[in-house]
Amino acid sequence: MKRILLTGAAGQIGSELLFELRKIYGNNNVIASDIKPLLAESSEHSGPFEFLNITDRVALFNLCKRHNIDAIISMAAILSAKGEQNPQLAWDINITGLINVFEVAREMKMKQVLVPSSIAVFGPDTPRDCTPQETILNPTTMYGITKVTGELLGDYYVHRYGLDIRGLRYPGIISNKTLPGGGTTDYAIAIFYDAVKYGKYSCFVAENTRLPMMYMPDCLKATIDLLHADFSKLKHHCNFNVGAMSFSVKELATEIRKHIPNFQIEYKPDFRQAIADSWPQSIDDTPARKEWGWKPAYNLETMTEDMINAI
Ligand code: SER
Repeated sequence: MKRILLTGAAGQIGSELLFELRKIYGNNNVIASDIKPLLAESSEHSGPFEFLNITDRVALFNLCKRHNIDAIISMAAILSAKGEQNPQLAWDINITGLINVFEVAREMKMKQVLVPSSIAVFGPDTPRDCTPQETILNPTTMYGITKVTGELLGDYYVHRYGLDIRGLRYPGIISNKTLPGGGTTDYAIAIFYDAVKYGKYSCFVAENTRLPMMYMPDCLKATIDLLHADFSKLKHHCNFNVGAMSFSVKELATEIRKHIPNFQIEYKPDFRQAIADSWPQSIDDTPARKEWGWKPAYNLETMTEDMINAI
């Protein structure tokens, strides 16, 4: 039986992944942790919670010992936009925190570790359309630098110590339960809230900005599917490209207008435009499809309809 520690459990992905994991492994076998308290938890899936600063290796080790943890899913991270405002903090959480996870997993001989990567590993000199799995990784953000480093570190621990570590490059994740914080792709969520509430949105990237995106149910599915994949069949480990949909802000606004006909949008690009421009427009995820059967369910139309109904 797995005893899982989920870090970043109060975050955008963590808060929804927590419930999925508890459904599969049992409420008491998934220990939620974060530096901040969890949002209101439904009693059906409530379970243990611990405050944890992931940069504190001793606290992480003691927590894992106390709960007999044999797997860590580490979602604690500083995202791209916040990382540019505080690069040192991004390094501390995303790298010092990550190596703490790997070291504790190594010391305790854990069964499995899953760590997220991101499309932010790519940079302006990467091919932007159908970006392949194996390509140039020269990111220009501190977030991207920490994600490339994280992928390499993860693969190092796989090969050097025989640990089972897996990871995937999330695109922008769109969801309606917990808001993201400090990411460049946050506009693709904020647009829905403002469209439903005010009928208008002021967007911080330009209308032709096109990025790869994924709806939360697919993000959860990708994460769980990779977690359950047969390790012996994986040729890649910590860096799987995963694609789902790709659209410009203009195309998203047009789709929203099918539900909210008077929706208005204005464009006021800020520093996040340069970050978006350095990332791919669409992703080739052939290895994920071949090695563990990845297949998304949602596209722009079905995601938009679901988002608007949910909000
Ligand atoms: N959603 C993330 C960000 O915008 C990308 O992984 O920072």
